[in-house]
This record gives sequence, C-alpha cells and structure tokens, in this order.
Amino acid sequence: MQRAVLLITALATLMACSAKSPSVATPDAAAPGVATLGVVMQAAHSPPAADVGERIYSGNCVPCHQQSGQGIPGVYPSLAGSPVVLGDPKQLALWVVKGQRPLSMPVGRYPTVMLQFGWMKPAAAAALFSYLRSSFGNSGAPVDADVVAQALGQ
Ligand code: HEC
Repeated sequence: MQRAVLLITALATLMACSAKSPSVATPDAAAPGVATLGVVMQAAHSPPAADVGERIYSGNCVPCHQQSGQGIPGVYPSLAGSPVVLGDPKQLALWVVKGQRPLSMPVGRYPTVMLQFGWMKPAAAAALFSYLRSSFGNSGAPVDADVVAQALGQ
C-alpha cells in the first residue's frame, strides 16, 4: 500500500516535470532569437544621435519644458538660451542625471521641482544634451558620451 502511494507520488512528480519543462523551455529558447533580432534591427537602422536625443526629450522633458523648449514662464524654465544647457556639459549632466545643482541655478527661482533621471546612461544623456544644444534656437557644440561618463563617475 505504502509502495503504491510512493509510486503514484513519483509518477505525479515525473508528469509535473515533463509537463512543465516545455513551457519553461519555450521563452528561454525564444529570448536569444528576439534579442538577436533586436540587435540586428538596431544595427541596420542605427538612428542618428539627434533622433535619439529628440526621442528622449519628447518622452521625458516635454511635460515641463514643452515641445518648444520654452517651458512655462514662472513655472518651468526655458531651455532656449539656458546657460545650463549651453554651459559646461559636466554640470548639465550632473543636474539632469543626479540633481546636483549648478552654481548658476540658485535655489528658489521656481516654485516647482525637477525630476532626476538617474537611469540615463552616458551615451543617451550625451545624445539628449547634443539635441538640447542644437534645438530651440540654441547653437552649442555636441556633447561627448565620455565627458558625461566622466562627470557621472561611470
Ligand atoms: C517635472 C517637471 C520637469 C521635468 C519632467 C524636467 N524638468 Fe528640467 N527643470 C524643471 C524645473 C522646475 C527646473 C528649475 C529647477 C530649479 O531651478 O530649481 C528645471 C531646470 C532644468 C534645467 C536648467 C535650466 C536653466 O537654465 O535654469 C535644465 C537644463 C533642465 N531642466 C533639463 C531637463 C531635461 C533635459 C529634462 C528631461 C530629461 C527635464 N529637464 C525634465 C522641471 C522639469
């Protein structure tokens, strides 16, 4: 009797395992293919840095600084002609990514606060900053990813 119970238990375990394994294996097997496809597609289209910067701006900064970069007077600063945008790229990186305030931005100018973008990697940040410096009527030199990485200690 006890042996029969044991046998059933063993069988059930075996069935559970064999029933489970294909469903576990499927996503694992599919993932490398999807990842490879992503890399290939990216390599084939590799968007110019300006597009990347524009996309990051549209997705993260527009709610406050607006599509035009003009902000909202008295609420959110304009990025057009902003000394922070056009100044030292390291200070710009520290402000946007780490929330470290440049000296040229005294506390209390605005009643609102800015978010921090700690997830932003140097290459993405550099693309974004290059976009800011060449948009909204700004004409500043592009920002190098290495300079951003150095500023952020990465
Ligand atoms: C939630 C609203 C909000 C979002 C989103 C936001 N900002 Fe800001 N930003 C502010 C506010 C408020 C200030 C002024 C902060 C202060 O002076 O303390 C500011 C200031 C700045 C400044 C300094 C401008 C100057 O000359 O005074 C820069 C540069 C800047 N933001 C860039 C960005 C970038 C790039 C993004 C997107 C990645 C972004 N901000 C997203 C609200 C926002």
